[in-house]
Amino acid sequence: MIVAERLTKDFRVAERRPGLLGSLSTLLTREYRTVRAVDGISFHLRAGSKTAYIGANGAGKSTTIKMLTGIMTPSSGRCLVNGVEPYRQRRDNARSIGVVFGQRSQLWWDLSVPDSFQILRRIYDVPDAVYERNLALYRELLDIDALGTTPVRQLSLGQRMRAEIAASLLHDPKVVFWDEPTIGLDMVLKEAVRALVNRANAELGTTVLLTSHDLSDISAICDDALVVDGGRVVHEGTLHELLRRADRRSVVFDHRGGPGVADTVLRIETGLPGATAGLTGEGRIRVDYPADAFTSRYVLGFLLDHFELADCYAPEPDLETVLRQTYRGGARAARDGGAG
Ligand SMILES: Nc1ncnc2c1ncn2[C@@H]1O[C@H](COP(=O)(O)OP(=O)(O)OP(=O)(O)O)[C@@H](O)[C@H]1O
Ligand SMILES: [Mg+2]
Repeated sequence: MIVAERLTKDFRVAERRPGLLGSLSTLLTREYRTVRAVDGISFHLRAGSKTAYIGANGAGKSTTIKMLTGIMTPSSGRCLVNGVEPYRQRRDNARSIGVVFGQRSQLWWDLSVPDSFQILRRIYDVPDAVYERNLALYRELLDIDALGTTPVRQLSLGQRMRAEIAASLLHDPKVVFWDEPTIGLDMVLKEAVRALVNRANAELGTTVLLTSHDLSDISAICDDALVVDGGRVVHEGTLHELLRRADRRSVVFDHRGGPGVADTVLRIETGLPGATAGLTGEGRIRVDYPADAFTSRYVLGFLLDHFELADCYAPEPDLETVLRQTYRGGARAARDGGAG
């Protein structure tokens, strides 16, 4: 359904020198360097899958999506969406995809939302029944009628995003590429947007590729995760597998009635080399230990042997923690031009 093979994108950027004189000399000499935004990415997304495209700022997500939607041509490698190369067959590709770039409008700036929908309806040749069904949904979930006949350029960010989301789904596309689709949306609308795309996926088998810095979007929509760092894929699999990659696990317990905090910490850090312990806000002890050094059973056994455990639990590693650990390194190198 969506295939990328060693997909690469280089940008040529003018080298800048610091200071005013530097700027002037940049204008005169025009030295360029290459920034490799996407560095040989390969993946294969099944029809009907919902994949989160995750990565730090500058990791190469939007650039990849621009190639998949036909806006940009790869520097090397290739991609296929529904069997077509998007940048060669832009028109064929456009019919079967729906796109939202939260950072950039896909709508006609001077037209109202109803007018834009009428145009899209004709461009995509949307059957009446489909159009009516979808519009009814947008009325119900996105309160689309409230946008009235205001030109898009006068809408607030959240209002515009509602129209963008609706426009991307209007023609029942086979694939939706949503790049930060919930920017500017309040909680209620975020939920509505998640419901809409999940519904399209469940009822029509719509394939979803989503980027979002709101990790709750990802948890609410996606089953699979593709993590990029510095233009390269560093994880491909299910979200669940990604969570299991946490390199540190934790146990929190109540130490009241036992030795003092300092003594408790010392015993833990000596007995479990590589683990760190400390007091939580609620006056409990939190132990963080390297997942590859100890099993949770071993850690729990150690704590039971050494302390009176009144209360004890193991917090799930959350997506944020896992990503913080995954983002280290590559993204920073790319930002500093190391990948260029
Ligand atoms: N048109 C361009 N010209 C030069 N460099 C670019 C261009 N577009 C993107 N880049 C560079 O390519 C890299 C990847 O950018 P991209 O927009 O794909 O990142 P991203 O993962 O979408 O980040 P964010 O989470 O901030 O949206 C960055 O280093 C960026 O500066
Ligand atoms: Mg982006």
